[in-house]
Amino acid sequence: MTTNSPLWYKDAIFYELHVRAFYDSNADGIGDLPGLTEKLDYLQTLGVNCLWLLPIYPSPRKDDGYDIADYYNIDPAYGTMQDFENFIHAAHQRGLRVIMDLVLNHTSDQHPWFQAARASKDSPYRDYYVWSDTDQKYADARIIFLDTEPSNWTWDEQAGQYYWHRFYASQPDLNYDNPAVRQEMLRVADFWLQKGIDGFRADAVPYLIEREGSNCENLPETHDYLKQLRAHIDEGYPGRILLCEANQSPQDVRPYFGEGDEFHMGFHFPLMPRIYMSLQKETIRDLQEILAQTPPIPENCQWCIFLRNHDELTLEMVTEEERQWMWQQYAPDPRMKLNLGIRRRLAPLLQNDRARLELANSLLLTLPGAPIIYYGDEIGMGDNLLLPDRDGVRTPMQWDSSPQAGFSTTTPATPLLTGDYAPERVNVQDQLQNPASLFHALRHMLQVRQQSPALGQGSLHWHNPGNPAIALYERRHLQERVLILHNLSGLAQVASLGGGFPAHVRNLLTDQTQPLPTEILLQPRQFLWLALED
Ligand code: NOJ
Repeated sequence: MTTNSPLWYKDAIFYELHVRAFYDSNADGIGDLPGLTEKLDYLQTLGVNCLWLLPIYPSPRKDDGYDIADYYNIDPAYGTMQDFENFIHAAHQRGLRVIMDLVLNHTSDQHPWFQAARASKDSPYRDYYVWSDTDQKYADARIIFLDTEPSNWTWDEQAGQYYWHRFYASQPDLNYDNPAVRQEMLRVADFWLQKGIDGFRADAVPYLIEREGSNCENLPETHDYLKQLRAHIDEGYPGRILLCEANQSPQDVRPYFGEGDEFHMGFHFPLMPRIYMSLQKETIRDLQEILAQTPPIPENCQWCIFLRNHDELTLEMVTEEERQWMWQQYAPDPRMKLNLGIRRRLAPLLQNDRARLELANSLLLTLPGAPIIYYGDEIGMGDNLLLPDRDGVRTPMQWDSSPQAGFSTTTPATPLLTGDYAPERVNVQDQLQNPASLFHALRHMLQVRQQSPALGQGSLHWHNPGNPAIALYERRHLQERVLILHNLSGLAQVASLGGGFPAHVRNLLTDQTQPLPTEILLQPRQFLWLALED
C-alpha cells in the first residue's frame, strides 16, 4: 500500500471495532483504550490499514455512544485522554491509521447544550436544537427507528415545546440553520484532528437540515455545510479523510462526493444486501444490477464496502418484496428482525459455512471499493439474540478459550457468546495456531489484495461466462489486470471464457502460474483471482 500518498484511503483495508468490546485491560469488564493498544499487534498481523472506532465520548449510552454528552472528552470507562494519545501514537508507529465517528446530527439529551436549551427559551443554546409548538411539522420525514419511535417529535415538559429527533428521543437533533452549531462542530473536528486522527466516519449526514415539504434528507443546504466541513479539513489537515454514512441509493449518495470536494469516501449501502441475495439465489443478477446503477465517482473518491457492521443488516435500500424475501431467507426467527433490518452477524447469516464465508469475503475484497471488516468476523464470531437492540452483534472479542475469553479477567459487562460460537469454539488464539483457520484464509486474502493496486482501485469490467451462477469480472489499473471468478452455486459450474485472455495466468492466491483454458470447471463456491500478465 502507498501509505504516504494523500490518496491512501483508495486502497486501504478498514477494520471497524468497538473499544468497549475489544479488550479490557483494567478488569472492570469493559474494553478500553489501553486494551486496544495492547492488541494492535494482532491487527497488524491480520493486515488491515485503518481502524474505525465506534464512539468513545462520554455518553449515557442510550444508543451505545451515538448519544454524545461531551464532544471533547473520552468516556472514563474507556480510559483517559492520555490513553487516547498513547493509542494513536502506537497505531501510527505500526503504520495503522485511525478514524473516529463524528456525530453531527444529534447530541444526547444529557448534553449540557440540551439541558440549557430545555431550561430556558432565552438560553443561547435553545437555538442549538429544533423546536416546535406542534408535532405536525416536517410530516414527510420518515421514522428511522421504527420499532421504538412513534414520531420524530417528542414533547419536552420542561421546555414546553416539542423537539425534533431522527433517532431515539434521547438524541435531539442539532439545528444546522444556526451558524453557532455549524461553527461548533468544526471546532469538534479540529479538536480530534489535532490529536492526530486520520479522519472521521461522519454519522447520519443526510438528516442535518429540515425543510417543510421535503423528506428532510439530502437537502442542498446539508451538502453546503458538508462541503464547508471538507474545505475546513483540507485546509488544516491535508491527507485526513471524511467517510460518509448516508444510507441512500447510489444516485443519492453520489452528490456526497461532490466534485471531489465533499466526502472522500461513502459507504455503498445498497450493494451489501445484494451480496447476500446473490449468495442465496446463487446468481449474479442483483449484484450486477446495483453496480450498473452505481454512477462513477470523482477520481479522488472511493466507495467503502462491507458485509456487516455494528448495526442491523439494513434493508432500507431494497424493495418491499426484496425485504420480505431477505427476512424469509436470513431472519427466520422474529427476534432476528430489527427496524428494517436483520440483527445478526456474518457467520450465523451464512450458516457458519466456511465455503460461504470465504466466498463472501472474496467478493468483499475484489468488488470495487475499500473493504471494511467488522471485528470478530475474521474469526467467524456469532451473535446473541437475547440481548436488546443491536447489542447482540457487539459482544466481547473472543481472544482465547478461557472462561472470560481472554477479553477480561472478570465477567464482561456484555455477556460472552455461548453454544456454537462460544469462546471454546471460536477464538483468536486457536485460529492463529491453526494455519487452516478462517483467520489465516482471510489474512492471506488481505495480503494478496494489498499487493494488487488493481484490486484496490482498479476499474470493473464484467465478462459473460454464459452461466448466471458465475460472477466473472476483471479489475484493471494501469497495466495490471486481474480476472476474478466466483462460483456462487453450491454445485460445480462451468465458466466459458471465450477468447481474448492469455494462455497462462498467475493464480494470485496460490502464486502458481497455470494454463487458462477457454472453459473452467469451478468447484462449489470456488473463487479464483487470476493475474493476466501476458
Ligand atoms: C448510525 C449508527 O451507525 C447507528 O449505530 C446509530 O444508532 C445512528 N446512526 C444514530 O447515531
